[in-house]
Amino acid sequence: MWRATVLTLFPGFFPGPLGFSLAGDARDRAVWDVETVDIRDHGIGRHRAVDDTPAGGGPGMVIRADVVAASLDASIAPDDPRPRLFMSPRGKPLTQARVRSLASGDGVVILCGRFEGVDERVIAARGLEEVSIGDYVLSGGEIAALVLLDACVRLLPGVMGAQASGVDESFENDLLEYPQYTRPRHFEGQDIPPTLLSGDHGKIAAWRRAEALAVTRARRPDLLTNRRTDAD
Ligand code: ADE
Repeated sequence: MWRATVLTLFPGFFPGPLGFSLAGDARDRAVWDVETVDIRDHGIGRHRAVDDTPAGGGPGMVIRADVVAASLDASIAPDDPRPRLFMSPRGKPLTQARVRSLASGDGVVILCGRFEGVDERVIAARGLEEVSIGDYVLSGGEIAALVLLDACVRLLPGVMGAQASGVDESFENDLLEYPQYTRPRHFEGQDIPPTLLSGDHGKIAAWRRAEALAVTRARRPDLLTNRRTDAD
């Protein structure tokens, strides 16, 4: 089973939306699971304090290094092979290639931050890898963790069922996906492109490749510049 362990101040976020649809069904079938560790359980003193004011001053609060370390050490064995991630807008951007690599392993350990951040020292001391889901700031790492988990879980064997395992979808070839159509054939004056109704699979594949390239060039030219140049 692919296992996620999430360290958070808000365990109630999990499984959250991942309890529904493909991910929820797969969890019911024990393809994957998520367990949470409540960082507050490792807080300091009678009030279980988890954060304090930033050294050097400034707004907000910073989660204490000792509290994060205690949360990790109490829940993760030293020889646990799973990557330890810390969701943060300062992290390396998450890509489909990284998602594929995470999905092919044993699972993930994810630390979710809140407030202004987490004391830098525990990030290095526990070998945490900072991961961002995009260039915007969320109010905490929980929703970012859910995004990462959803992207991984759908790739686990047996989760997508009869659907193709994603070879044609966006990013899998460093291209955005070609457009899709279904019935009705005529919709408010627009027709399905005739090639798709031709029954000629070679022509359909060529049309889709050309459309994928065109939409990628228009919307995400950055994907084309770093692209592997085998097909097309
Ligand atoms: N926490 C807050 N913002 C985030 C982001 N963009 N990615 C990952 N974690 C975050």
